[in-house]
This record gives sequence, C-alpha cells and structure tokens, in this order.
Amino acid sequence: MKKNTPPMGRYTLSIFSLLSILSVLAYLSYNCAINTSSLSSSLSTTTTVDIDSDKYPKCPEVERFTPGSYQNQTFKDTLDKIINDESFRNLSVTRMQKAVQIDTSSYDDFPLDVGSNLEVFENFNIFHNYLQNEFPLFHENLKLHKVNHFGLVYIWEGSDPSLQPLLLMAHQDVVPINEDSLDQWEFPPFEGHYDGKYLYGRGTGDCKNLLIGHFEAVEELIKLNFKPTRSIIFSYGFDEEIIGLRNQNGKFIEDIFGKKSLYAVMDEGGVSLMDIGETKMAVVGTGEKGYLDLSISIQKKGGHSSVPQDHTAIGIIGDLIVQIENNKFPTYFTDYNPTFHQYVCLAENSIDIDQSLKKDILKSQFDEISNLNVRNFINKDRLTSYSIKTTQALDVIQGGVKVNALPEFVELKINSRVALEENITIAFKKFLNDTKIIANKFDLGLNVQFPYNEEIITLLPSTENGVLTIKPIKTLEPSPITPINDSKWEIFAGTIRHIYEELAYPDIYDNNDNNNDNEKNQSKIVVTPGLGTGNTDTKLYWNLTDHIYRYRPGVLPSVTANSHGINEYIEFDSHLQIIAFIFQYIQSVDQAND
Ligand SMILES: *[C@@H]1O[C@H](CO)[C@@H](O)[C@H](O)[C@H]1NC(C)=O
Ligand SMILES: *[C@@H]1O[C@H](CO)[C@@H](O)[C@H](O)[C@H]1NC(C)=O
Ligand SMILES: *[C@@H]1O[C@H](CO)[C@@H](O)[C@H](O)[C@H]1NC(C)=O
Ligand SMILES: *[C@@H]1O[C@H](CO)[C@@H](O)[C@H](O)[C@H]1NC(C)=O
Ligand SMILES: *[C@@H]1O[C@H](CO)[C@@H](O)[C@H](O)[C@H]1NC(C)=O
Ligand SMILES: *[C@@H]1O[C@H](CO)[C@@H](O)[C@H](O)[C@H]1NC(C)=O
Ligand SMILES: [Zn+2]
Repeated sequence: MKKNTPPMGRYTLSIFSLLSILSVLAYLSYNCAINTSSLSSSLSTTTTVDIDSDKYPKCPEVERFTPGSYQNQTFKDTLDKIINDESFRNLSVTRMQKAVQIDTSSYDDFPLDVGSNLEVFENFNIFHNYLQNEFPLFHENLKLHKVNHFGLVYIWEGSDPSLQPLLLMAHQDVVPINEDSLDQWEFPPFEGHYDGKYLYGRGTGDCKNLLIGHFEAVEELIKLNFKPTRSIIFSYGFDEEIIGLRNQNGKFIEDIFGKKSLYAVMDEGGVSLMDIGETKMAVVGTGEKGYLDLSISIQKKGGHSSVPQDHTAIGIIGDLIVQIENNKFPTYFTDYNPTFHQYVCLAENSIDIDQSLKKDILKSQFDEISNLNVRNFINKDRLTSYSIKTTQALDVIQGGVKVNALPEFVELKINSRVALEENITIAFKKFLNDTKIIANKFDLGLNVQFPYNEEIITLLPSTENGVLTIKPIKTLEPSPITPINDSKWEIFAGTIRHIYEELAYPDIYDNNDNNNDNEKNQSKIVVTPGLGTGNTDTKLYWNLTDHIYRYRPGVLPSVTANSHGINEYIEFDSHLQIIAFIFQYIQSVDQAND
C-alpha cells in the first residue's frame, strides 16, 4: 500500500464546499460592509425597503430552544462544567489528543473489498479500542454493531419504540498528510499539540472533534442517569474522505428500521458562525448539489503527421471545449434552493446591504426583473455563482503520443456539480447537445451511454472521420432538501441559538427580556439554511429521512481552521460547544412529539 498518495477526489470536493458556502457570506458581507459604494452606484435607488410588508418572504426566525432539564440545577451544572470547567477542558483536550494521535488516514487506493484486506485498515481497530477504553459508560449502555468490519453503528435504545430514532453521525477517517508539505506543519500532524487555546493536528476540525464530542456528551448524560425515550443511533464511516464506497451503515440501519424511519440526521458541514456586519450568522446545510463526472472521447484514424487532415482528434476536441465553455448552464434563484433563504436572511439582517439589492432579493419570487438582477449579482462572482447554477469544469485531457504521429484517441473528462433545480439527466443532456453539435460539424459518429444505463447507443453511425463517445463516470443526484417549516428545524436552529447566546457567550447576548436599556450589542444569532456543493456521508441516509442537518457548532467557520490542509487546528472552545450542543440537542429531541 502506497502511503503517500496525495489526497484527491473527496479532498477537493469537500474543502471547496466549505470554502464556497463561506464565500457567499464573506463576499456579501464584504460588499455590504466595505464596498457599498460600488454597489449603490450600479443600483441607483436607495429608498428603504419595508421588510415587514406581508408580501415579502421572511428569514425563518426561531426562538431559542431548551430541553425541560434546563430547569434542573444538576443538568445546568453539567452544562456549565462542559463550557467553563478547567478540569473538564483538560480531560477533553487529552481525549482529543489521543484521538488525533491514531492515524486514521484513508487513501484513494484503499481496496474496496474490506474483508480480504483487513490489515490495511488496522489503524481503525486501534481507534475502536481507544473509544472502548476512553468511554466505558457509552459502551456499557449502547449496543455496538460493526458494519463491513470497520463501520461503527451504536444504538442507544429508547423506551418508546414507536418514536423515530435520531441519527448522529461523523466519520472516523481523516485526509492523509501530503508528505511534500510535512515540513510546513508547525506541529507534527499526529501529535495533537495544544497551546492552551488551540489544538493542532489532522482531524481536529474534520471531524474527530464531532465524533469525540458525541461520546463525551453521552457519557455526561449517562452520569446524570438520562435514559432516552427515543432511540438514538450513532453512525461512523471509515472512508468518507474517499467517497464512502465501503460504508454500509446506511443500508444496515435501513434493514433494521426501514425507509423514512428516522427523526433526523445530523452531520458535519455548514458554517459554524460568521459575521454579517453587526450580526452573526450560523449556516446549516439543508441541501447539496448533485455530482456528475463524465468522459467525452474521440476515436479517429491515425497516420503520419506529414499528411494530416485539417482537424486532428485533438483539434476537434479543442472545438468541443470551446463549444462547452461558451454554452453555460442557466442560473436559477428559486425558493426551492436554500441559497434563497440565506439571501433573504442576509437582506433582513445586514444593515449595510444596498437597499435596491435587498428589495430585489425580497421581490425575486414574484418579479422577473428583480429575480434577474439578483441572479446577475450572485453570478458575477465565481465564489458565489456556483450556488445558483450547474457548474462545468474541464479538468482532464489526454491524447496524442508522439509529435510526428496523428492522435488516434483523445479523452476529455469533465466535473459538473448539478444545480438543485436540475438533475443528472438534464446536466448530461447539455453536454450531449454540445457533443452533437461538434459531431455534425465534423461529420463524426456519436455513441452515448446515458446515466443509469449500461447500454451504449449509437446516435450517429461512425464515419471515416471517426466517432465521438460520451458517457458518465460518476453520478450523484442533488440531495433532497431539508424542510425548515417544522418543529424539527425549530429545535435544531433553536438549540444553536441557545448554545451560543445563553451558554457560550452570555455576556455578549441579551439574556434579559426586561432589559430596555440594551447595553448588550448583539441580540441574536441568525440561523439560516444554506447549500453545500459537495457531499458528505449523508448521501447514505437519503432513504431514511429528508431531515438532514449539516452543521457543527464552533467559534470559527471551519474553512479557516485549515480542514484538509496544513496546520489543521481548532479553537478548543469550539469543541466544548459541540459537546454542549449534543448534550442539549439529544434531550430536546427526546421530548419532541413527532
Ligand atoms: C489544566 O491543564 C493546564 C495545562 O496543563 C494546567 O496548568 C492546569 O493546572 C490544569 N487545570 C486543572 C484544573 O487540572
Ligand atoms: C435533576 O436531575 C438529577 C440528575 O438526573 C436528578 O437526580 C434530580 O432528581 C433532578 N431534579 C429534579 C427536581 O427533577
Ligand atoms: C430529471 O428532470 C426531468 C425534467 O424535469 C424529469 O423528466 C426527469 O424525470 C428527472 N430525472 C430524474 C432521475 O429525476
Ligand atoms: C444546445 O446547443 C445550442 C447551441 O449552442 C444552444 O443554443 C442550446 O441552448 C443548447 N441546448 C441545451 C439544452 O443545452
Ligand atoms: C411545510 O411546507 C411543505 C411544502 O410547502 C408542506 O407540504 C408541509 O405541509 C409544510 N409543513 C408544515 C409542518 O407546515
Ligand atoms: C435506497 O433505496 C433504494 C431502493 O430501495 C436502493 O436501491 C438503494 O440502494 C438505497 N440507498 C442506499 C444508500 O442504501
Ligand atoms: Zn469531514
């Protein structure tokens, strides 16, 4: 097993998803806070928008949510301990350090057949033993199932089997260290260096912090004699960073509980917390774009390059490239897309936002011109435009072997992230359309293999000029969208507000309803849905629920913590906030009716 394969695939996929969610906000807040002049000069009206008007959509506002036990001093003391107690913090630091010290890197060339290659995954056994030793109460009270040898599914059985179980998830594996960059790490990546404020190492942010946080929260609940009414499932894959092909946890859970059997799923993702002007926003991932890799190739007679045709195989693919890049996917700004709600929340809460942009956002669902204005605004910037359209990236080209021989085979590979408003088939057909145009232009044959089909169909018979072939390599449909108009969202989003406003930063937020002379400078965290571009292991649970929350509390938006990169770290307060969140969320969900 080669141990120094640079991480690819998932690597680029999920770092970009975090980066781009972040940049939607960063870019807008930048414009709002700093660059309003250029915005307002391009959009002239500056009348204030009456956002209270009934005809405008509203940011899905929620109240803080606390479980009944928040009235119980013993539970309150435990929460206080989790957030503020120095010995608890020290203990938690050592637990995270030990977790980081076990190198659970997953490599692209890991075998698909796990059972015949157990030794390759040996470090996951070490990790399992660590969990077993470190969290004895957890293991005494929950039933562990090992799925496909290294997948972990723990079931904490509730007293009422008629209630739908809650699923909390994370992944055990981490992104490998690129050996070439090892000397750029300030502290060794598997040491777990802690400097009193920050903890450094691979997996501290992605996502051993979430996984260990689950165990720590549950140990505290068990100590308080908490027994769930609703079953709670914990699920940890071991190949998330390499696409999750070996992860059978979802199927295992479906076999036990059936389709649409879960209350909700919570996983990593989203943007923990970030500034929009004076306000802070937490972005929960409630949808993910689809994923399409495809190949377009040409086969053509070769020969000596002293007697070439006017267009060689490479020249024709060059024409195809121009055709594809000049024919972009359409943009959408629909209320189906979480991005819409995120912009509505921005419009409502950013005091600096240009008034006409704000008006356009609020009118976008019933005024075509406003909709177009917003789309043009978002589409202007590469780092925001992805959220409103299918993207296309021409990433690989191979062909030609010898400078004096005509190329016989050239292949182009494209990565496309599919808009929520479209699907794999629609995106594929756009590329097929482009390819057809080139086939006609150069009088070539055209073979196609449609998504979800094994069969290769001849659309145009091959000619003496050659033949083009287009086929999918990898596909994943856009995810279902998590509803935000229900009590499940109120509990999830309300718990975020509760953790930050009442527990983590009680001095910043106004915690006194009767306080009229508002000394505190912030009154709330705005919790909004948002869009991810990549996919986590949550794709394995689509059969089980539409309620998928991709979010993890923390002081920083995760991308600034160098997840996947050099010097990955967390501010340790973030980890304690995760524990507190899980501690409270489990209890709140336990009391929910649905
Ligand atoms: C926590 O750890 C720090 C650093 O090792 C140490 O100085 C401090 O005394 C510890 N606090 C407690 C309460 O154990
Ligand atoms: C508060 O919680 C503790 C720990 O579970 C429990 O022993 C106690 O009875 C609770 N107090 C009240 C008033 O419910
Ligand atoms: C993709 O969208 C088209 C047009 O809306 C629809 O006809 C088709 O059934 C969809 N395909 C899938 C797999 O959802
Ligand atoms: C197909 O290509 C033509 C020519 O570039 C373009 O006008 C048309 O919009 C394309 N259709 C689709 C579905 O992409
Ligand atoms: C949420 O909205 C959907 C779609 O509009 C609707 O079908 C559903 O009944 C709503 N749920 C609640 C709890 O209001
Ligand atoms: C979801 O259900 C479909 C239909 O039963 C099945 O083919 C598919 O494998 C399931 N997906 C997962 C991830 O288990
Ligand atoms: Zn991750």
